[in-house]
Amino acid sequence: MNAAPVPVIEMHGVSSRFGETVIHRDIDLVVPAGEILGLVGGSGSGKTTLLREMVGLLAPSAGSVRLFGQPVRHPDPLVQRAVRQRFGMLFQHGALFSALSVYDNIAFPLRELRCFDTATLRDLVLLKLAMVELEPQHGRLMPAELSGGMVKRVALARALALEPELLVLDEPTAGLDPDRSATFVRLIRTLQNELGFTVVMVTHDLDTLAGLATSVAALADQRIVAHGTPDEVLRVDHPFVRNFFRRELEAAAPQRKGH
Ligand SMILES: Nc1ncnc2c1ncn2[C@@H]1O[C@H](COP(=O)(O)OP(=O)(O)OP(=O)(O)O)[C@@H](O)[C@H]1O
Ligand SMILES: [Mg+2]
Repeated sequence: MNAAPVPVIEMHGVSSRFGETVIHRDIDLVVPAGEILGLVGGSGSGKTTLLREMVGLLAPSAGSVRLFGQPVRHPDPLVQRAVRQRFGMLFQHGALFSALSVYDNIAFPLRELRCFDTATLRDLVLLKLAMVELEPQHGRLMPAELSGGMVKRVALARALALEPELLVLDEPTAGLDPDRSATFVRLIRTLQNELGFTVVMVTHDLDTLAGLATSVAALADQRIVAHGTPDEVLRVDHPFVRNFFRRELEAAAPQRKGH
């Protein structure tokens, strides 16, 4: 009999506090490989904090976090480094190093590995640029010279540089107009189809959620109040969930009346 596959993320009993302020209480969240999890919650509900704990940038006050079956904050720095090379992250703010060109931003995580010669590095950077539908000459631009949509693409290319098995996206479409947002969602979906990585994504945007997520977790009252398929979560009777999905529920309501 085959052993059950190891989930990509396992958080158990996670509690978080900053000083006296409690952000999360006793959160359990397991994300299997291949899932695209949309994490939703009000502003300040602790979504970014949860992502930071998930990838080991922040230690929770209590509880355990495992990535790919290993403790994410492993005492052995070599194991910790190996685990950290298996995910890519797109941060909510300040996605790029402003003093580095697009090329050097994407090359940054590759250079850290110290195992590519200049020609290979160049090929890899150009490949990542192409993956996010940018041209080689865009590599010369500085972050200040990019449009909002291009910044997101370059940040995505950098997050994908090490061919991660897990992509963590904090509000990937925030600040993009609806067209650019839809294009970016399509790009992530295409790459996910081709490369098969697992995604955890925070978003406030229903269209982004509808376009990508295979499952949804809702954070409110310091806990995960709903977790399941988008359809299951839509039906959960909680004030945050009802309010968040109001547009969807209202759109569905006339059909229900008609039946
Ligand atoms: N390093 C920190 N020190 C102290 N408090 C913090 C720290 N990081 C976050 N917080 C607090 O924790 C709470 C949750 O913050 P977090 O950034 O996780 O929320 P969020 O759900 O991502 O919000 P948003 O939707 O606005 O991005 C907030 O009240 C915030 O002020
Ligand atoms: Mg946030």
